[in-house]
Amino acid sequence: MAPLSTVTLHVAGELRVPGDKSISHRALIMSALAEGRSRVRGILPSADVHSTAGVLRALGADIPALDEAVEIEGLGLQGLRPPSMDLDCGNSGTSSRLLAGVVAGSGLTARFVGDASLSRRPMRRVKTPLEAMGAAVELPAHGGLPMMVHGAQLHDWRSEISSAQVKSCILLAALTAGVEATVREPLRSRDHTERMLAAMGAEVWTNDEAVLLFPTTRLAPLDIEVPGDPSSAAFFAALAALARSGELLLRHVGVNDTRTGFFAALREMGARVELEDSTRESGEWVANVRVGAGASLHGISIGAEAIPTLIDELPLLATLAAYAEGETRVTGAAELRVKESDRIAAVVGNLRALGADAEELPDGFVVRGTSPSLRGRATTHGDHRLAMAFGVIGVLPGNQVAVDDPDCVAVSYPQFWSDLERVTS
Ligand code: S3P
Repeated sequence: MAPLSTVTLHVAGELRVPGDKSISHRALIMSALAEGRSRVRGILPSADVHSTAGVLRALGADIPALDEAVEIEGLGLQGLRPPSMDLDCGNSGTSSRLLAGVVAGSGLTARFVGDASLSRRPMRRVKTPLEAMGAAVELPAHGGLPMMVHGAQLHDWRSEISSAQVKSCILLAALTAGVEATVREPLRSRDHTERMLAAMGAEVWTNDEAVLLFPTTRLAPLDIEVPGDPSSAAFFAALAALARSGELLLRHVGVNDTRTGFFAALREMGARVELEDSTRESGEWVANVRVGAGASLHGISIGAEAIPTLIDELPLLATLAAYAEGETRVTGAAELRVKESDRIAAVVGNLRALGADAEELPDGFVVRGTSPSLRGRATTHGDHRLAMAFGVIGVLPGNQVAVDDPDCVAVSYPQFWSDLERVTS
């Protein structure tokens, strides 16, 4: 199918997307737990990361404003204090789940709250392992927030799970409690926590199936330049692939292989995606990602094994698939139903309402690429990734898509709309 769009890219054809959200959360948490002064450059100053900073401050950590370069004086593994207020995680699942582990392992008691979307999201997944380790966790009947965590002297734990947030919750609980934890992963999830722990001197063993953290008494300070978020870069990679001519160079993007599934999918669909100048920085791989325009895209199938590597990019993949010849089928992704919104229902509902051919599956979706002219209003349900996915296809010539809540991009990519304007004008 010939590419139908004529998106004109920014003359320089370059963009540096903001820092990785997952790594930014972890950098704040682990710097607060280290002994000594950590240095974090390029942290993502988005609403979700502000939530983690706010919770850490409520636990007594000295977290400064999230400027380009942040210095954090750590309190040590036992240094956090009981909070005198609820811990407000806003929209951020990562804040709530990772910090629940920290509170439990630190022997503190705290009540976690969040916005309406986060309050609906499943927390039994952290209650179960934390209670098995010796903490007590109270949840309302629906299993979401508010969540009361009563820390205790935890004991070691072996768990089987494929979620980076739950894995990190367990590792951080074991870290702060000074006990051992083994987490077996049926499907390998993003491994930023393990990498950062190792970079800070903890003894962590990993292979394709499991992570083993040995009891740790101290973390050395962190010194990191946070790589650009591949989940944010994905929107511009998709845009470049949909364009008729030109190319886009995305600089300093994190290319940890637990996160690069979308770039692989884009390549499999027929786009030119090249990683250049790969380097390893503070335990993470970083590269420039060059994406060429003008390819004829075709549909692909993605199954359960690949899902963790592109879980957050699946709404974008669905919108892109409307412009790829043939059928794109995603299965094994039921987890999408409990993200910031039910992303299967939301992306398919919007695509259909705007004029594309899409269908829900219980654990994924099917999109038939008809290169439609999309017209109407995309309903984000306050979900940042839906806003950006429809923002990208909204700029294709012939489309007229209004996003109902454009400001919700502040959760992960505050300057998304200005970057989009910059590369398409
Ligand atoms: C994240 C892990 C993933 C991802 C989320 C961020 C993290 O969630 O979808 O956006 O930073 O650990 P799960 O751990 O629930 O799979």
